[in-house]
Amino acid sequence: MRSQVGIIGAGPAGLLLSRLLQLHGVDTVVLESRSRDYVEARVRAGILEQHTVQTLRDVGVGERLDREGLPHDGIYLQHPGTRHHLNFEELCGRKVWVYGQTEVVKDLITAQLDDGPPLLFGVSHVTPEDVDGGAPRIRFTDADGVAQVLECDVVAGTDGFHGVSRPLVTAGTSGRLWERTYPFAWLGILADVAPSADELVYAWHPEGFALLSMRSPSVSRLYVQVDPAEKIEDWSDDRIWDALSTRLAVDGWSLRTGPVTEKSILPMRSFVSAPMRRGRLFLAGDAAHIVPPTGAKGLNLAVADVTLLAQALVRLLTEKQTDLVDTYSDKALARVWRCTHFSWWMTSMLHRHGDDFDAELQLSQLRRVCSSEAAARELAENYTGLAVDL
Ligand code: APR
Ligand code: PHB
Repeated sequence: MRSQVGIIGAGPAGLLLSRLLQLHGVDTVVLESRSRDYVEARVRAGILEQHTVQTLRDVGVGERLDREGLPHDGIYLQHPGTRHHLNFEELCGRKVWVYGQTEVVKDLITAQLDDGPPLLFGVSHVTPEDVDGGAPRIRFTDADGVAQVLECDVVAGTDGFHGVSRPLVTAGTSGRLWERTYPFAWLGILADVAPSADELVYAWHPEGFALLSMRSPSVSRLYVQVDPAEKIEDWSDDRIWDALSTRLAVDGWSLRTGPVTEKSILPMRSFVSAPMRRGRLFLAGDAAHIVPPTGAKGLNLAVADVTLLAQALVRLLTEKQTDLVDTYSDKALARVWRCTHFSWWMTSMLHRHGDDFDAELQLSQLRRVCSSEAAARELAENYTGLAVDL
């Protein structure tokens, strides 16, 4: 087998990269270790920045998003007694869309299987080789158990946090890792009930953070801060609804409850690996960095990475110019660190940890964002997404 770009991983990063390259006449093969059903069923975050929405429209997969996605002008920030609306449209002229990552992935897979380059599910033993030379290859075993070799000009490592690509990059470069593990986790549920607010509610509470989000007019997505050692079996649906009702409470409002269809505990960490390139192997998305979910940045950052990477690879492969691949890692990392800071800041402001002194600092910061236009605009600009070139 041969293709100009071999892409490892069919998450949003790999699928969108393949689509962007295809539209610029660069051929790809995408190798995914899981099945299509598994990839399409994974529940992940659900907020798209304006740039992400525009990119999906530009590559021809925006139709269902425009039909079913929910545009939101802002969010609510809450601390006991106060629910304050931040209007992003007014603060920075941008908005965000509620549309699950799962749906984005389904749309990209449908487009790729329809008229796109090969997308192979259920492969194993994926091994990139000779990435330091000009003609790398990827060895793998296909879904029928047959050993295969994909010869390519470039390998894209979009295989997520547990993939094979990042270890190869860190082993072959004088790279660095940065990591922060937070002393709390999120317990998330999906529930068949209409959302109890028109936009997302991020709530600080003495008992811990809570978030009201949604997937559609009839499906709510909600989270409560828990200790990372908590066991999901100890959280009955009633206990979860009680915690949510307490933490999200404001006068004159009540939380609608309904059947819980999914629940899980998500660890929270920040992680950055640099550089995002070794020779002809390029990393993008969760393969290179993880942010805690509080700022809803994970998917949007992956989209920003592959937008840059696609431009760089088109220039390399069709114009034979190396300038953009040479600046890819530094440019991508500038945005990664901006989003890493924003996600860390939102996380630190909203989750209960530390002592009473910390709590007062958090409340002071929240009141500042709710009362100062400058402070609110800083949050709005970051939340709705900064320009790719920062
Ligand atoms: N070979 C082939 N595929 C692999 C391998 C491997 N060795 N290892 C992992 N994969 C696949 C995973 O099964 C997954 O489908 O790579 C894909 C990586 O996808 P994601 O984890 O979704 O990562 P990414 O595409 O970077 O998406 C960005 O944004 O909201 C966040 O964390 C969330 O996944 C999301 C991310
Ligand atoms: C979600 O809907 O899953 C979601 C929304 C906002 C966040 C994180 C997750 O900040």
